[in-house]
Order: sequence, then structure tokens, then C-alpha cells
Amino acid sequence: MCGIVGYIGDRNTQSVLIEGLKKLEYRGYDSAGVAIYTEEGLEVKKAKGRLSILEGELSNRPLVGSIGIGHTRWATHGEPSDVNSHPHIDNSSKFSVVHNGIIENYIELKEQLSAKGHRFVSETDTEVIAHLIADVYDGDIVKAVQTAVKSMRGAFALGVLTEYEPDRLVAVRQASPLIIGIGENENFIGSDIPAILEYTRNVYILNDGEMALLTKDAIQLMTLEGNFITKEVFRVDWDIVTAEKAGFDHFMLKEIYEQPKAYRDTMGSRISEDANEVVLPELNLTAEQLMNVTNIHIVACGTAYHAGLVGKHVIEKLTRIPVDVDVASEYRYRAPIILPSTLVIVVSQSGETADTLAALREAKRNGAHVLAITNVVGSSVAREADDVIVTWAGPEIAVASTKAYTSQLIAFFLFGVFYAQTLGKTDATEVATVIEDLQQLSSQVEQMLHQSARIKTYAEEISAHDHLFFIGRGLDYAVALEGSLKLKEISYIHSEAYPAGELKHGTLALIEPGIPVIALATQEELLEKTISNIKEVKARGAKVLAIAMEGNAEIGKAVDEVFYIPRTRAVLSAALSVIPLQLLAYYASLARGNDVDKPRNLAKSVTVE
Ligand code: F6R
Repeated sequence: MCGIVGYIGDRNTQSVLIEGLKKLEYRGYDSAGVAIYTEEGLEVKKAKGRLSILEGELSNRPLVGSIGIGHTRWATHGEPSDVNSHPHIDNSSKFSVVHNGIIENYIELKEQLSAKGHRFVSETDTEVIAHLIADVYDGDIVKAVQTAVKSMRGAFALGVLTEYEPDRLVAVRQASPLIIGIGENENFIGSDIPAILEYTRNVYILNDGEMALLTKDAIQLMTLEGNFITKEVFRVDWDIVTAEKAGFDHFMLKEIYEQPKAYRDTMGSRISEDANEVVLPELNLTAEQLMNVTNIHIVACGTAYHAGLVGKHVIEKLTRIPVDVDVASEYRYRAPIILPSTLVIVVSQSGETADTLAALREAKRNGAHVLAITNVVGSSVAREADDVIVTWAGPEIAVASTKAYTSQLIAFFLFGVFYAQTLGKTDATEVATVIEDLQQLSSQVEQMLHQSARIKTYAEEISAHDHLFFIGRGLDYAVALEGSLKLKEISYIHSEAYPAGELKHGTLALIEPGIPVIALATQEELLEKTISNIKEVKARGAKVLAIAMEGNAEIGKAVDEVFYIPRTRAVLSAALSVIPLQLLAYYASLARGNDVDKPRNLAKSVTVE
């Protein structure tokens, strides 16, 4: 994890770095720091805690210069502290480094360097990089970095600055994301695009094993071995305000309200003009290949994994092709049976999650075709997969994923219908009615958002509780898992999601008078069964809120409160039933006075295993 930024040019370097780091804080916020070459030489300022602390300290004594690097940290090696913050320097204080990733062999390197007289002050893996570079430096920083990285194992995106060559900034990418921003008489580096979007829309996206030398008026791209390369300029067409809060109190709320647009954008041109077919022209997968697929593995982490669980229901229901869903951090260690006819679908908002990327590579090594569903064009997952369905949710800043999750559901719906069409599993009339229902979803979400005040009141009530349960059957269980995760991660209320029929096998012992239970009951063919389970918890004193499909008056008699979602077909219900759960988590977190957008201990993008 961590975010890095770098600048060379005539602007106020300190402010370019701080503004860039603000856009990257979602990647980690345990500490922040900058190194700037000033009249005094290479000066480093860093501080534990949020970026605002560093900003405050810098405002008392600004660092003035025209080249610098900055970092926002999510701690891996060494606790969050001033000394463990980046940038790290060598003993001569002439070399400074910012790093995102993990150096796996840092202990071995540290021992070798210590034996040569290097003294280390931090517990980090990154500090060894500064020492390594200093150790091999012979008047050329590019060569020194190339030599140093040869002995490093692991994942690293680096920004490197030396006092000896104050007009050269070096950037390296090896298994951690890094982009180069192209300016006029100025250039930038960043962990991702929002960090530099205020200044330029033209970027180079580095691949693993590549590096760049930035001066004020030139960028030289090369491999880590020193071979010069050329690359196409990637033109970013996002609007900068898409990455801002646009009047909402929190990014999370803004992103919840952006879902109708995200649904429409993700469907976009993927539905034929006559609304009779799903078209996915971006896929390289041929109809013949799809017809030969025998089984599917969906692999992802966290919320994206929960989207995968919905994807399984959708694909199996529409195509009858068997689907397994795996948590990415487990996948490669369970020696999954991947056949040449297995289609592997990886799901990742950021496209940079280390475990998901490793699963993708494992699948490719085994000869599977990999389809990625991701929100970030140009991300590692997007570039390494054989096929990509981009979710057009726009940048997601809040740590708790909302619009990316629901856009992933839309991507699964589209893929499921497309696949069923290809296999001839649904007739044209059926496809047209599913598409009609799909197109209704965005306005149905808008309708539900108008009722957010009811959820807010309920959230304020439950915010006083320390434990609660989510129950549901089938697709409702998949959504219950996501509702529970959302609540836990931002409100810190302990909650558990259970298949409704499973409670009596142990968990019912935890139900006591007054405990809130949220029952998802949108699947009408399972409704009677779910109502029986609701009665089981009611009989033990639970207070039940049901999320049900409009028109189901019967459920109202069994529970304390009902929130109805607009009527849609069962297989699409998750795209609606999750909305009140997102709002519930948001308002419960607010009621508890938490930092909604930046929950404790978490970071937006998990680029370490
Ligand atoms: C929870 C959340 C995480 C992510 C997970 C995977 O709200 O956002 O559980 O879903 O870390 O991240 P991506 O989708 O970027 O691979």
C-alpha cells in the first residue's frame, strides 16, 4: 500500500506534493512525508498521523525548491511512527527514497549493508533502498538505482532523489503501480492518476520492470536493465471534479448517490440500440471459446468477492455453467483445479490488489483465459488479463466500496446475459425483458435514495448496539455478507451475516432480547422459508428489519419494520437491496462519530499480500 508522488518544475514543489498526497490518502494514512531539494540541500520533513499534521508542520517552515518526492504510508514493516515514515534517507543524508510495496529480502540486505558500516534508524524495509543506492552510487543516480534494484526482491514503486544531482528525479516500477505525468517544463510521478490530474492529463503508465528519469523538460523511459523504450501517451479524460466531494459531506455518501449514473454508464453502449441484446465488443473471447468453457472461477477480495458471489448466482441461473467463488488470498494456496476450459474472472475495483493479481497470474500460468472486471483502466489487473470489462463507476475515493460494488454487479448481469445469449440458453423475448429490467435499475435506485431518511433513523437506533445479525437465503445471503462488511468496516459495530436457515445450527444461541436482526427477504421463491427463520429470531426477542420486494405485504406481519425495494426480477435484486444497507452503514458510522471515508486500520487499495 502507500501512495507516492514526485515533482520537478517551477511550481511550488511543496504544495504540488501535498495536494498530490491528499488525492492519495485513500491508499494509507498512517504517516506522511516529503523530501525537497532546497538551498540548504536535501531536506526531509515527515510526521506520524494524517497528512494534515505534516501540512501544519510545513506551514510553519515551508521547504522551497524545484524538485521533491512525497509519501503517504500504510504501515507494513514497522509501526506507524515519525521514524518509520517515508522518505527514507541514507547515512550521508544525500539520497532519499519513497516506496510503495514490500522488499521481501530486506533483512538479508540490511545485514549485508550493516556489515559494511551502514547504520539503520527505522524498522522499515524501505530504508535499505536508500542505503543500497548510496552504497553503489558512482556519480550517476540512474545507474545506481539500476544496480540497487538488481539485489532487491519483492514489489516496489520508487521515487528517488539525490542531492548530488538535484535536477534528476528517478522513478521505478516493479509490481506496484506508478505513472508519470507529462507537463511543459515540469514533470510528475504518482501512484495513480488523481494525484497529478490537477496539473496534466497526459501520462505514461509504467509496466513492471520499467523506470523513468525525469528532468524539468524531458522524460527518459527505460527498462531496469537500462534499455531505452518508448510508450504511447495515455490521455486522461476524467473530470477533476469527479474526484472531489461535489457538495456531499463524505465521499462515501457522494459515491452512494452516484450509483444511478454508474449503472447507466456501465451498461452504456453494451446494450444494443434496439435493446434486444447485450453486446460486449471489448471481449477477445470468441463465441466458440465461450461455448467451450466448462466451468468458471471467480476470484476477488472483500467487497469485490461479495460481488463475485452474486455473479455466481447470476451466471449459474442464466447459463447453468458451474461457478466457484474464491477469496483471492486463498486461491493459489489451495492448488485450484484450473482446466484449459476454465474461465477465470477476477474482480477488482482498483485493479491493483496484490492477492487478486497473484490469482490472475496463477490462472494464466495454468493456461486459463482470464477476464477482469475492474474500475481502473490501465491498472495491473486490466493490463494482465486476457479480457477486461471496465466498470464505469468513476474514481472511488471512500475506503468503503459502494458504487464500484454495484457496478461490478451490473458487469456480471451484462456478462451473464451475454453468455446466455451466446449459448442460446435464453430466447430473444426473455433477453429483451431482462434488458428492460436492467435499464430500470438506475431510476429504481434513485427512487430508493429519496427514502434515505428512514434508513438514517433506523441507523441512529442501531448505532447504540454492539452486535447485530444479517440473515438471508440464496442471493439475499450474498447481499447480507456485503451489508455486514460495510457496517463493520465503517461503524465498527460487530455484525455477522448468516444463511437464514443456518442460524439454528449454533448461532441462534447469540440471539437475545433487543438484538437487531436485518433480514433480507427479496427472493420470493424462498420467502416462506425466510419468514420461518425470522419467526425463530423474533421468538427469542430479536428486533427485525426486513428488506423485501415491493408488494409483499405478508412479511410486514412477521417483522418490526420493513424497507421495500422497487419490484425487479429476482436475479437482479442485489443491485437494489444493497442500497439501504450501504446507507445504514454510512449513517451508523456518522452517528458513532467515526471518520466515514477513512476507517481505522484500513486502506483503499491493498497492494501487499
Ligand atoms: C470494502 C472494500 C474492500 C475491497 C477489497 C478489494 O468496502 O472496499 O473489501 O473490496 O480490498 O479491493 P479491490 O476491489 O480494489 O481489489
